Amino acid sequence: MSYMPDSKRYDTMKYKTCGKSGLKLPILSIGLWHNFGEVDSEDNAREMLCYAFDHGITHFDLANNYGPPAGAAESMFGRIIKKDFHAHRDEMVISTKAGYWMWPGPYGDGGSRKYLMSSLDQSLKRMDLDYVDIFYSHRLDSETPLEETMLALDSAVRQGKALYAGISNYPPSQTQQASDILKSLGTPCLIHQVKYSMLNRQPEDGLFKVLEAENIGCIAFSPLAQGMLTDRYLDGIPGDSRAAKPHGFLKVDTITEDLLKKIRSLNKIAEKNKITLAQMSLLWVLRQPCMTSVLVGVSNIGQLKGNLEIVKKTDLSEKVIHQISEILID
Ligand SMILES: NC(=O)c1ccc[n+]([C@@H]2O[C@H](COP(=O)([O-])OP(=O)(O)OC[C@H]3O[C@@H](n4cnc5c(N)ncnc54)[C@H](OP(=O)(O)O)[C@@H]3O)[C@@H](O)[C@H]2O)c1
Repeated sequence: MSYMPDSKRYDTMKYKTCGKSGLKLPILSIGLWHNFGEVDSEDNAREMLCYAFDHGITHFDLANNYGPPAGAAESMFGRIIKKDFHAHRDEMVISTKAGYWMWPGPYGDGGSRKYLMSSLDQSLKRMDLDYVDIFYSHRLDSETPLEETMLALDSAVRQGKALYAGISNYPPSQTQQASDILKSLGTPCLIHQVKYSMLNRQPEDGLFKVLEAENIGCIAFSPLAQGMLTDRYLDGIPGDSRAAKPHGFLKVDTITEDLLKKIRSLNKIAEKNKITLAQMSLLWVLRQPCMTSVLVGVSNIGQLKGNLEIVKKTDLSEKVIHQISEILID
C-alpha cells in the first residue's frame, strides 16, 4: 500500500533557519550513510523514512558514496521516493555530496569540476530526481583550486540541478575562502556539514566562529559518535550494532575501556536528568548558536522515536553542561 503521511506531521517539530538564508531545517535531520545499503532491509529503511517524515523530519542527507556498495543508498532512496514520497517532494530537503572516491580513474574523486558535475548527474539518475536541494563539496581537495570546486557548486545551482551549495569537512581558513568565492559568484554558501559531538569538539577551534561571522548554517554529523554516545555499547558490542558489522565504519578497537569509562559517566548525568544519553548528546550539540540541525543515523524506528523526544525537551542547563565538560576534559 502506498504511504499516506500523518496529517499532524508539522505539529511538534521545531525548525530553524539555516544561517541567513530563507531555508528552514528541522532541528533533527536523518542521514543515510549506514542502514540504506544493499546489505540492509529496504522495508526497514522505508519504515524509518516514513516515520521520520510523519514526525516533521523534512531533511534527508545522502552522498554519492553511501551504501555499501557506493551509490546503493541513493538508489534505495530513489525507489522509496518514487513509490511513497512522490507527491511530497516539495516538502523535502534532499542533499547529496561528491568529494570522496567514487569510480576508478582520475575523474572519480576529489574536487574537480569534471568529477563534481558528473557525480551530481549520476546522483540525480540514481535518485530519479530533477534536482537536489543541497549539493555539497564533501571535502577539501588540496589538488584542485578552491575556485574550481566552488565554481562547480555555483554551476550546479545555476543549472537547476541543486537549489543551494554546501561544503563539508573544510577547515576554518578554507571555509572563509570558500565563502568569499561563493559570495562573489552570487551563490552564497548555505551550510557547512561538520563532524561534531561530545567526543569530537574540533569545530570549536575556529570553525564555528567563521560560520557565525559568515552567516553560514551548520549541521552536525555523527552527533552520537556513530552510536558510542548512546546506551548501545555500555555492556558490550551488540551483534546488530554498527561496530559489529563488517561494513560499519565504527571499529570495535575504537571503543576502548577508557572511552567507555567516560561514556558511562556521561550516561549517569543523563540518567540523573531523566533523559537518555543519546538525547543529552543531541541537545549538547544543538546548544551551539550556529547549529541549525543535528544529523543522526538510525538503524530502527525505536532509536528514531527516542531521538525525536529532544523536540519536546528544554535546553540543557548550565549546570549539566558544566558537569559534562568536567568529564570531557578528564
Ligand atoms: N559529511 C560527512 O563527511 C559525513 C560523514 C559521516 C556521516 N555523515 C552524515 O551524518 C549522518 C549521521 O552520521 P552517523 O550515522 O555516524 O550518526 P550518529 O547519529 O552519530 O550515529 C548513528 C548510529 O547511532 C546509533 N543510534 C542512533 N540513535 C540511537 C539511539 N537513540 N539509541 C541507541 N543507538 C542509537 C545507531 O547505531 P546502530 O547502527 O549500531 O544501531 C546509529 O546507526 C550520516 O548518515 C550522514 O548522512 C556525513
